Amino acid sequence: MFSLNLRLITIDGPVAVGKSSVGLLLAEKLSFQFFDTGVIYRTFTWKSLSVGLTPADVDALVALSQNTVFEFAPGNGSRLVVLVDGEDASRHVGASEVERNVALIAKIPQVRERMVSEQRRMATELRLVMAGRDIGTVVLPWADLKVFLQASVAERAKRRYTELVERGVETSYESVLTELEQRDHNDITRAASPLKPADDAVVINTDGLSLEDVVDRILALVRDREHLC
Ligand code: C5P
Repeated sequence: MFSLNLRLITIDGPVAVGKSSVGLLLAEKLSFQFFDTGVIYRTFTWKSLSVGLTPADVDALVALSQNTVFEFAPGNGSRLVVLVDGEDASRHVGASEVERNVALIAKIPQVRERMVSEQRRMATELRLVMAGRDIGTVVLPWADLKVFLQASVAERAKRRYTELVERGVETSYESVLTELEQRDHNDITRAASPLKPADDAVVINTDGLSLEDVVDRILALVRDREHLC
């Protein structure tokens, strides 16, 4: 695109708002790397369940998080993948047990501390678009540009339902909607790093906007910031 001073862009927002699709396309247009931080929480949840822990085993989960080695490696295109103790767990992160437990494990403050320090470590080395819930507020408050995506829960449920049906998953719109409402509730009301826009984030409501429209808006913000440098 053009040679940039800007190095770190954060994209936060609720579940199924399109953070990954937007972040990945944006990263590709800017020749940045893209990291979806949900993957590190999901990967750790998969590992915890596979050694027999449940979200109630708080002390053991904290110890496990401290003894697990996380690495980040190039995946498809601009996307970075997480290696957990050397293993790429990508194929497990969408499993329904992971889906059901991830928000409960992600609520534990000391587990979050460990994940946050890993996310910061990654951000020291790369030009990066990082997506999540607390990236602009907690993980990278010094980022050059912060975006917070919003969309109504009905619109997000519609998008997620269509995506699941296309992947051959049997479900109903109502159950997808209920699950999103439950996850929103967990993410917004948790004490540690609740989901909210940073004071200096640009909020974009994506209802009725295409993926390209949203990315174009962010690229316009990137150009504005560059002119201010
Ligand atoms: O974005 P995704 O749905 O993959 O995230 C899975 C879960 O991980 C979220 O529901 C949230 O509880 C947790 N998460 C988080 N902080 C982040 C990213 C994800 O707490 N930065």
